[in-house]
Amino acid sequence: METLHHPVLLQETIAGLQIRSGGVYLDTTVGLGGHSQAILDIEGTRVVALDQDAGALRRAGDRLHRFGDRVRFEQTNFADFEPGESKFDGMIADLGVSSLQLDSPERGFSWRHDAPLDMRMDVDQDTQTAADLINLSSAEDLANLFWMYGEERFSRRIARRIIAARPLNTTMQLARVVAGAIPKRQPIHPATRVFQALRIAVNQEITSLETLLAHSPEWLYTGGILAFISFHSLEDRPVKHQLRADPRLEVLTRKPIIPTEAEIQANPRARSAKLRLARRL
Ligand SMILES: C[S@@+](CC[C@H](N)C(=O)[O-])C[C@H]1O[C@@H](n2cnc3c(N)ncnc32)[C@H](O)[C@@H]1O
Repeated sequence: METLHHPVLLQETIAGLQIRSGGVYLDTTVGLGGHSQAILDIEGTRVVALDQDAGALRRAGDRLHRFGDRVRFEQTNFADFEPGESKFDGMIADLGVSSLQLDSPERGFSWRHDAPLDMRMDVDQDTQTAADLINLSSAEDLANLFWMYGEERFSRRIARRIIAARPLNTTMQLARVVAGAIPKRQPIHPATRVFQALRIAVNQEITSLETLLAHSPEWLYTGGILAFISFHSLEDRPVKHQLRADPRLEVLTRKPIIPTEAEIQANPRARSAKLRLARRL
């Protein structure tokens, strides 16, 4: 069944970016194109849309086809983006994975589907997979990874069980070992934190975010606005600190904007979302 990705905090992001007719915007995480579409629905706007996942770009391309040359796509990690002479009136980074990625069994992002342990957002790069990390790392490195990126209390126990059970090549094999290593938890599946940690490590998500935070203010016109949507504290912490610390920026959200109850009801994935905005001085 086709899964629809609900763009998170859509109205709040569009309002926060103060989109204006004729403006040029950078969507660094186009995904299925929900936020970009809302920007392009405003007359005369243009969008440069990035994603490191070729599949996401194809889907966004189909969805945004009707906007013609008002939208341009580029497959890249946002940390490697080079705008050349271009400047933007606003930029959005809606971090993490899309529901399409989570719900595509063959991508290996979820313990819900049995699949090879891959988890690369960009499958065109010959970089390490989750299976490489699981099967080649030391117990200490695995434990540190689960603790650092998953805030997993039982990280050492899980790491020891994994070492004893290796090789582990599928999501179900890993989920079973993790579930057997720790007490049952409600309401999240016992392997949720380990899967999050692996995904963050495989895609070097925090390093990429830090690079984006350092470079993106330069890509904006004076008065241009940055919008960051994060889904957990490992993402929100650097966003909050860097926006405050950067002398090129004025923070527009003293407290993050969070979803309404109605949005969370309609889209439970929005539950932990936080939107922070800053203006280029
Ligand atoms: C939460 S989804 C974005 C959803 C999108 N705003 C929408 O409305 O459909 C995140 C997307 O960002 C992409 N992504 C994550 N990290 C990235 C990075 N460092 N560089 C480029 N794309 C990235 C993922 O591949 C995914 O498609």
